[in-house]
Amino acid sequence: HESTVPDELGDPVAHAAELPEPGAVTIVVPTFNESANISELLHQITASVPARLPCEVVFVDDSTDDTPDVIHEAAQDCPFPVTVLHRKEPAGGLGGAVVEGLKAATSDWIVVMDGDCQHPPSLVPELVASGERANAGLVVASRYIKGGSRAGLAGGYRIAVSRSATWLTKTLFPRTLRGISDPMSGFFAIRRSAVTAEILQPLGYKILLELAVRSRPRQVTEVPFVFQDRFAGESKSTAREGFRFLRHLVGLRTASPVARMAVFGLIGATGFVPNLLGLYALTAAGMHYVPAEILANQLGVAWNFLLIEHLLFRERRKHRSWWDRVGRFALLANADLMLRIPLIALFVGRFGMSALTATALALVTTFVLRFAGTEALVYLP
Ligand code: GDD
Ligand code: MN
Repeated sequence: HESTVPDELGDPVAHAAELPEPGAVTIVVPTFNESANISELLHQITASVPARLPCEVVFVDDSTDDTPDVIHEAAQDCPFPVTVLHRKEPAGGLGGAVVEGLKAATSDWIVVMDGDCQHPPSLVPELVASGERANAGLVVASRYIKGGSRAGLAGGYRIAVSRSATWLTKTLFPRTLRGISDPMSGFFAIRRSAVTAEILQPLGYKILLELAVRSRPRQVTEVPFVFQDRFAGESKSTAREGFRFLRHLVGLRTASPVARMAVFGLIGATGFVPNLLGLYALTAAGMHYVPAEILANQLGVAWNFLLIEHLLFRERRKHRSWWDRVGRFALLANADLMLRIPLIALFVGRFGMSALTATALALVTTFVLRFAGTEALVYLP
């Protein structure tokens, strides 16, 4: 009966004493107020993992209730080591918790699963065996291949959300996710050597997606599974988690400067809507079109600023104060406008371009300059 209970992160000595043999599995379970599920989960794991597959369980807990105590208590009856890492600062939510577990894991294989018994522990040996057989770095437990099902996904609404999220994600990452039918799954096995913990930026629930896109395990295989009903309690997912997921997607998709520039351009294009609406309202109210144009442009700038702050450069806001960012952003946006006319004059006068070509070229030039300026001067990397 081994059971280690270092109370906080960063107690490597206590943890190292429990290292299982190579070829073993570390089961990482994120928990947030799951006290009613712990004992059942540990029972199911005990019944599922054969003696020849040494195992340890690492709970990464952000609970505000007595879940850690309940885990310590239930761990007394377990034939394998159980560790609880209780985080004081729950950075990154579920995904952040899983990454802490990945870092603490010491076995060759790591299985990540939920703490509410929706992921059947009986599949743990099969996930690891499949990975070994296929020489894979990642084994996804999928609801969307033959033999799998989303039985425990209650209600048409959640099924619709899950389906569209899967479709959107696969559309955004067609090549990376080619062999993954269920990138939204929270149940998978990963080889410890395939985890690149330093470069992960987890944000909420979709930790498998984060790993698939940023760590890019070389070989991926899938095993079907039936998503069970929750044993006790309710899902911890909220509408806020949905927005977090969208931000996560944008963050993953804009890792390269070219992709960032594309999103910057898309956001800029949507700025025409408030700009034109403002122009219409102001001129309808009797304002001359020149000052109306200048004012309406500020409306477009404000709109772009909001979207860029919250979607594109959210993680890079911390380098400057809000006022500093607003000032610099507005300056760049208006400089763009003022630079355009002399630039067109230069292209036509010096290089003999037609007005149309010159305008197009000036637009592209000021756009690239504005993007580069925003990256370098407003949101430092
Ligand atoms: N440490 C920690 N921190 N754990 C968390 C947090 C958090 O902020 N939020 C949730 N958890 C834990 C829960 O306690 C549970 O053990 C597990 O993460 C899954 O949370 P649920 O709230 O039960 O998720 P779900 O059932 O709605 O969604 C599951 O299925 C989806 C597929 O439909 C998850 O596995 C999702 O990742 C998956 O996409
Ligand atoms: Mn659940």
